[in-house]
Amino acid sequence: MNGKQLFLVLATVLVLGSSLQVEATETTDNKTGQFVPTKEWQVINEGQAIPKGLHVRINLQTGLKEAKLLDESERGTALQSSQTIDETDGEPLPLDYKKDLIEASQRHAKEYVELRKAYKEFQKNFRTDGELVVQLIGQYRNFSKNPLESELKPKLDALETLEFLLHQIDNALVFIDNGGLDDVLLPIVVNDTNTALRVSAMRVLGSLTSNNPKAQIKVFEKSFGSHLSQIIISSTNTAEISSALHAFGALLRKFPLAQKRVLSTSGTQALIRVLRSPEMELRSKGKVVTLISDLVQEKRFALEGSKDMPDAASSTAQYVLIEFEPWLETQGYCRALDDVLSKDFLHLLDQPELVEQFSTAIWTTQSMCHSVWSQSSALRHALLTIRNRYANSKDEYRLEVSHALNNICKRLYDKAKQHTEL
Ligand SMILES: *[C@@H]1O[C@H](CO)[C@@H](O)[C@H](O)[C@H]1NC(C)=O
Ligand SMILES: *[C@@H]1O[C@H](CO)[C@@H](O)[C@H](O)[C@H]1NC(C)=O
Ligand SMILES: *[C@@H]1O[C@H](CO)[C@@H](O)[C@H](O)[C@H]1NC(C)=O
Repeated sequence: MNGKQLFLVLATVLVLGSSLQVEATETTDNKTGQFVPTKEWQVINEGQAIPKGLHVRINLQTGLKEAKLLDESERGTALQSSQTIDETDGEPLPLDYKKDLIEASQRHAKEYVELRKAYKEFQKNFRTDGELVVQLIGQYRNFSKNPLESELKPKLDALETLEFLLHQIDNALVFIDNGGLDDVLLPIVVNDTNTALRVSAMRVLGSLTSNNPKAQIKVFEKSFGSHLSQIIISSTNTAEISSALHAFGALLRKFPLAQKRVLSTSGTQALIRVLRSPEMELRSKGKVVTLISDLVQEKRFALEGSKDMPDAASSTAQYVLIEFEPWLETQGYCRALDDVLSKDFLHLLDQPELVEQFSTAIWTTQSMCHSVWSQSSALRHALLTIRNRYANSKDEYRLEVSHALNNICKRLYDKAKQHTEL
């Protein structure tokens, strides 16, 4: 892949499938909420199915997913690695992936001009990204074993370029095949005392494992799961926790074996520790509850879906062994989430995105925590306060969140309604 194509990745994220507009003519029936592709970008609604072979992107301004028919000229440049992203064969991408992608892309957008310049400079000497990845690993091996202040900047630059390159599945595999995990990432994540370097290395790790099953397996085999858990348990630095959580989630999602191994040991404890820790930012706690909620749902969907898909049996068997909810309960998840909201709800009032993350998690896990939450008057007070505040808002989004909170309150406190007006 050459430089031009690489930067295409930023603007237009992926091309689903390879068979082009298979059923373009059959999609004219949109009564059933099907997506009707045209040559213009159109927003894909949440949960809406789209035909194969469309050009799909995240609109960075709106954060919405859009698709259109592939232009003739784009077919040749269709990113080879993207078909592997499309594991779900045209199903909507999971929301968490969308969020990660937007977050990463926005950060990149800021650095775009500079990176582009640096990359062009680099690229002059290499025919492919693969060669560039190999070169960066070599460069890393050449750094002195003892930390030198003078080498910090070039190290960070190399990691940043890697983070950028390794979003591509084939680049990530080149990195792994050439010893990048052992020679670049492991020493930093496990032993380096410089926080900035650890943050960068974990971003690279998140980048290369996101939606890349082969990379997930290799990263898991190198015990990054427990290393990341240790960092999440011991760090007090928000940037570090945040990059560790991102890498942690990227490693675990859609990977039941890793979920079982990592979450049954220190993993669950690490997540709950973030929730419990008073010095941790609400934003980090929001990330934690979102990951918990996603993983709980992932198992449910896997078990439900397996009824109609007998060939998914082996993966289903793995999901059955994940006792994430009991592990969460043992670690005190229900009480911890109750405490976060009860103590911090005033700070949440002007952060509706965070409220949405918490309310989604409450909804997903309420069957597990019903007995604790329904008895908690502090939680009830917190939820009702936010709900009432948002219910009087003119902002569409806050109204939506208020609606979700209302459903939660009904579910948890319906009996109370007989005594006091909600
Ligand atoms: C599909 O939607 C378009 C506009 O979005 C509308 O004009 C058209 O009548 C719809 N077709 C059907 C079959 O419902
Ligand atoms: C690493 O150092 C060796 C010896 O100094 C040199 O020959 C090689 O080109 C360097 N490799 C990279 C990738 O900088
Ligand atoms: C971390 O440091 C220890 C002690 O110096 C060393 O034995 C170990 O191999 C290092 N681990 C990595 C992954 O570099």
